Amino acid sequence: MARNSTRYVCQSCGAIYPRWAGKCDACDGWNSIVEEAATTAAPIGGKAAARGDGKRRRIEFVPLNGSAKPAPRRLTQIAEFDRVTGGGLVHGSALLIGGDPGIGKSTLLLQVVAALGDKARCAYISGEEAADQVQLRANRLGVANRPIELAAATDMRDIIATLDTPDHPEFVVIDSIQTMYIDALESAPGTVAQVRACAQEIIRLAKRRGFTVLLVGHVTKEGTIAGPRVLEHMVDTVLYFEGERGHQFRILRAVKNRFGPTDEIGVFEMTDRGLAEVPNPSALFLAERQGEVAGATVFAGVEGSRPMLVEIQALVAPSPLGTPRRAVVGWDGNRLAMVMAVLEARCGLQFGGNDIYLNVAGGLRVTEPAADLAVAAALASSISGRPVPADLVVFGEIGLSGEVRPVGQMEARLKEAEKLGFAGALLPERRKGAKGAKSSGGLKLHELRDLGGLTRMFEPGSGPIRIVGRA
Ligand code: TYD
Ligand code: MG
Repeated sequence: MARNSTRYVCQSCGAIYPRWAGKCDACDGWNSIVEEAATTAAPIGGKAAARGDGKRRRIEFVPLNGSAKPAPRRLTQIAEFDRVTGGGLVHGSALLIGGDPGIGKSTLLLQVVAALGDKARCAYISGEEAADQVQLRANRLGVANRPIELAAATDMRDIIATLDTPDHPEFVVIDSIQTMYIDALESAPGTVAQVRACAQEIIRLAKRRGFTVLLVGHVTKEGTIAGPRVLEHMVDTVLYFEGERGHQFRILRAVKNRFGPTDEIGVFEMTDRGLAEVPNPSALFLAERQGEVAGATVFAGVEGSRPMLVEIQALVAPSPLGTPRRAVVGWDGNRLAMVMAVLEARCGLQFGGNDIYLNVAGGLRVTEPAADLAVAAALASSISGRPVPADLVVFGEIGLSGEVRPVGQMEARLKEAEKLGFAGALLPERRKGAKGAKSSGGLKLHELRDLGGLTRMFEPGSGPIRIVGRA
């Protein structure tokens, strides 16, 4: 049966080769190909598919409008977690939680099983920490009295044998998949072959027995879940736990979800007693604002279904370097380059010879193009030294010809700004409605058609920037 007992697998992308090579053709990585024992579980499309022998069973086709009920779910009652999973954990599903080491994955999952523990049997299997370390953490989190079954184990076959019984737990945490191994494989734990084989076996068992498995996966320097992307394909849901080190905020973000939307985020705050939910992130993200400072502006963003206000800070300072520095935290560097190019080409601003720093306060990562206008306002404010009024929110997408384009969910953004006591908004022109300043509820709106309207506000001698005031 075993013709090739070893094969060569790229450790960063999982591509398989019959012989060693210095460079992986699939991902262009150097020195990433490692010899591995061929797994006992034949890969999909492997030898069995090529055999072509014996009788084949006909597959059954069914109509789309079947009678299948949606899979039952279980709410954890941690609202921020339930929001990201799309309404609770689905029975028999596999979930992967990725994140940098030390970001708080173990803490989060211990809190999740602790919250579930009263209603369902939960097991927490740690391959990274000894049982007493997890017990210490449970004590610190104040959940030590919950009926969680705790084990320290790394041998996946032992874990499978333990769970493969009719009275299995309903929720199983494996922390982390990189520490697990199957002894039939010669490669070390954490290699592609081990991670894939371990995940495959536990997921197959979870589907067969109908329990939910929550896998912890570490993230590599490149930002993907350690080594194999393959893991992301094998599970139903992939969540990333992220945040800036040194900030107390942690964001849980769904990047794949077979049972719900993928654009929702959950916001947590790190405390000495574990992760606390943040039901109103805008208030928290804006809590440390300094008032009117040149270069700071409030962006009215939307994450999933939830509006979220964050402060965007820009600093434009003369550079001593031949090639000025461009440093971005929390936003896309290419997008910054585009906004700067439009400001230079269409509005005559000069950034040449200046270092540019851009920061999204609080550690949030903003991905919406709607932040363009807020970034442009922060840059124009910093370079002119004129502050943006502190009671103003800004949002809008910028096109290459300098036009300001409408974005989605404008009403939700305005409503959130009003709720938090802002007095006005700089926004794209809305399709219906009068031009220029106009009030909506308690907010005074200033609609912009192009960037020129924005930069004129910051020109010297144009009087104080006062476009707002309660209507
Ligand atoms: P941990 O959950 O172990 O991170 P991971 O499993 O992702 O590697 O958390 C890392 C450290 O941070 C740990 O020493 C505990 C501490 N911590 C807190 O003190 N409070 C918190 O709310 C969280 C999430 C972590
Ligand atoms: Mg951990």
